[in-house]
Amino acid sequence: MIRDDLALTRQGPVPHHLLPDSAAVDERGHLSVGGVDLLALAEQYGTPLFVYDEEHLRTRCREAVAAFGDGVAYASKAFLCTAIAKLVHEEGMHIDVATRGELHVVLAAGVPPDRIVFHGNNKDADEIAEALAAGVGRIVIDSQDEIDRIEALVRAGANIPRVLIRVTPGVKAETHDFISTGQDDSKFGFGVRSGMAKAATERVIASTAMDLVGIHYHIGSQVFRVESMAEALRVVADFSAPYQLAELSVGGGIGVAYVEDERTPSIAAWASMVIEAADSLGVDAKLVAEPGRSIVASAGVTLYTAGTIKTLPGIRTYVAVDGGYGDNARPQLYGSDYTTFLPRCVEADRPNIVRLVGKHCESGDVLVMEAPVPDDLVVGDVIATPVTGAYGHSMGSNYNKVLRPPVVFVSNGVARLVVRRETTDDLLLTDLG
Ligand code: LLP
Repeated sequence: MIRDDLALTRQGPVPHHLLPDSAAVDERGHLSVGGVDLLALAEQYGTPLFVYDEEHLRTRCREAVAAFGDGVAYASKAFLCTAIAKLVHEEGMHIDVATRGELHVVLAAGVPPDRIVFHGNNKDADEIAEALAAGVGRIVIDSQDEIDRIEALVRAGANIPRVLIRVTPGVKAETHDFISTGQDDSKFGFGVRSGMAKAATERVIASTAMDLVGIHYHIGSQVFRVESMAEALRVVADFSAPYQLAELSVGGGIGVAYVEDERTPSIAAWASMVIEAADSLGVDAKLVAEPGRSIVASAGVTLYTAGTIKTLPGIRTYVAVDGGYGDNARPQLYGSDYTTFLPRCVEADRPNIVRLVGKHCESGDVLVMEAPVPDDLVVGDVIATPVTGAYGHSMGSNYNKVLRPPVVFVSNGVARLVVRRETTDDLLLTDLG
């Protein structure tokens, strides 16, 4: 991670680089995104609410396409609904899906199947059959069992897929262990060092049931050290050179800034690093990538309402909001840090440090451990957490039967509800009594 030496104090106003591109302050001091006042959105749609800046999303997609060219895929696990699938497709990206469910949503959005890359470390035969029947553009093979399944399906008449093989370069990315995937000890891919990658590649080349077009690797997510990405590329370039395949997929993983003193490379800077490293290694294959977080994270802001403010004398103040773990599990899962601001006074200093917690029945239901807030925060205030566009909504849950929030896209002064709020009746949809 690149720390800013001139670290902006956490207690000043929320810095602009954590807000969506179109964030602007109106004459009342309110924050608007996409030309729409966040307080008006909270009023109209209620809270919690995910708000996405549509132009910001489009700009990041264009940056990725400009940097990598055709073939760059959006990793839909970061945030998926039909609106984002359509948007990334309109902007020229392919889409990576990792399960039958993601495949279903992307197809329902009308994305042409040949623009879909199908990932997953445990694709079952039915999932693969669905993907083959749909005619997905690429399948990224992750195990010998998967090769068996594809061969059996093709023998039974399924389409012959174009495939990549996922390899594990044996490089540990500096990120949380749960999202580090490039080390030898990984459930993903075939190890280069162990010879498993070579064996799988030779088997697939010899197989008439699939057409091998490339090699894929992905060393992890929220990675700031571009050196580990370059190191992985060296290993994979060396491994794949003898096979002279058309494509080399470098996965995703570039980190984003979540809090005040973090800075991160842009998609373009990341792409330049990868492309230069590949050139210097003499890689002939076409480079493709799969950014997720860097496309959607800072496009999104979550709005909550402060419901209970409890000051424990000599200890701390807890500010409880109407969402929590169910709409942002990242603090609890990875110890991820976020920040806070009040949309009604976005330029105000935030001298008080409180603990922002949710409404779930667990002490671990913390959204922001050290949340900076203005000193006039009151019950009923709308409080926002920026940079919540990735792995928030997509990892959402109904724990405690809390209803999952809606999603609004804003652009040019217009708000568009793209996912409605769940209702209590939705909670009974699959309940057969
Ligand atoms: N390609 C593959 C094969 C992946 O497994 C992933 C992420 C990506 C691309 C996209 O990576 P990104 O550009 O978004 O870093 N839930 C975790 C992140 C899990 C990432 C899983 N794979 C979190 O909230 O940090």
